[in-house]
Amino acid sequence: DGEVFKYYTEGEWKKSASGKSVAIINPTTRTTQYKVQACTQEEVNKVMESAKVAQKQWAKTPLWKRAELLHKAAAILKEHKAPIAECLVKEIAKPAKDSVTEVVRSGDLISYCAEEGVRILGEGKFLVSDSFPGNERTKYCLTSKIPLGVVLAIPPFNYPVNLAVSKIGPALIAGNSLVLKPPTQGAVACLHMVQCFHLAGFPKGLINCVTGKGSEIGDFLTMHPGVNCISFTGGDTGVAISKKAGMVPLQMELGGKDACIVLEDADLDLVAANIIKGGFSYSGQRCTAVKVVLVMESVADALVEKVNAKVAKLKVGPPEDNCDITPVVSESSANFIEGLAKDAKTKGATFCQEYKREGNLIWPLLLDNVRPDMRIAWEEPFGPIVPVIRINSIEEGIHHCNASNFGLQGCVFTSDINKAILISDAMETGTVQINSAPARGPDHFPFQGLKDSGIGSQGITNSINMMTKIKSTVINLP
Ligand code: G3P
Repeated sequence: DGEVFKYYTEGEWKKSASGKSVAIINPTTRTTQYKVQACTQEEVNKVMESAKVAQKQWAKTPLWKRAELLHKAAAILKEHKAPIAECLVKEIAKPAKDSVTEVVRSGDLISYCAEEGVRILGEGKFLVSDSFPGNERTKYCLTSKIPLGVVLAIPPFNYPVNLAVSKIGPALIAGNSLVLKPPTQGAVACLHMVQCFHLAGFPKGLINCVTGKGSEIGDFLTMHPGVNCISFTGGDTGVAISKKAGMVPLQMELGGKDACIVLEDADLDLVAANIIKGGFSYSGQRCTAVKVVLVMESVADALVEKVNAKVAKLKVGPPEDNCDITPVVSESSANFIEGLAKDAKTKGATFCQEYKREGNLIWPLLLDNVRPDMRIAWEEPFGPIVPVIRINSIEEGIHHCNASNFGLQGCVFTSDINKAILISDAMETGTVQINSAPARGPDHFPFQGLKDSGIGSQGITNSINMMTKIKSTVINLP
């Protein structure tokens, strides 16, 4: 109906002077669902300025008061779970039930940040000088954690709300202000989430949310001199950001090619259930999705059969109906996934199901007998396709896992705990799950990727620490 959602700064909802908007296409209907403001660079400059001013005051606000406001925002967010979830359904085609879960999980995350923050920021260190050679006990050092300033938060489309608050919560409790740049798909869910912070009564200018075209304000934001920290989750753009960003701490969570290594002694029913959950939930559009199965040849037939039986039961269709497999986020994403499937076909992979696509909806597909010369062996489809590579030794599996540019998570299935630990140690990934599919949560667990999968570590505690700096005061005694 032509309504364009406003952006948020200085505690108010505003229209961009550009007079332009960005359309958000519903992945299911493939028509324009919503429109958001296309903010200008000048507006970004103003937003940065107000974030800077608000932060100074916020840093002086007692920690317990900051925590109180975060708890309030968490409660309001949970109250508004229905309308926010509806946006997720329409903007990113996330199944309705999972969309509600995302909002509730986000509320819990914010509350946990408040609780964790008052503990870890409420403590500092006291050091004495005479432990270092040549020193008398004449210097006392007091340390505390101070905020960085303005945090730029850029979440991805797959968890627009949850991966926004996983940055906002830690940033705010630690005394930072915030500029949020939502993904285009998911922007309206983000704006609704910001409204919950608005209703909680945070000071003006502390939280800002700018929308717009990446080409216009993307680099402008990430290279802006007013930014003191960047927390980004997404794809290749992260690599470009890390090259262009100034001397500010970066927290990056990029792609993954999480391997699932299956040994002969694994509980194959458990493995099959986890391949379904890990590989196909949200149609494979998760950084931590199972993106390659490396199974010992002797149990491969049995495993593939079990997985296929479960694939056949997956409900395919619109997110409103809570289908397991829903349309992928965009047409270009669907085309990319199709390219990977075609490449595998040409090179002789076994298609356990027929390849089928209607619009952005791609039917779940298990590809057996995948070989290293196929793109799907290495690239991340971000779609409902899981490749299976048959291996003849554990070493072969570890080798494939470690040859990837990515190193987010991985998993190993075996009933031998000693083997599991040895394999975990050998896998070059930020996390290894034993007998379960990769996953980021619970949200206070550390979450990090090696190699091209990221910089730094997330999870509530690590993010709070990352968004602070140590400040020392040294008392010099006569
Ligand atoms: O970016 C991380 C996200 O894709 C994975 O999160 O909670 O699905 O493991 P989760």
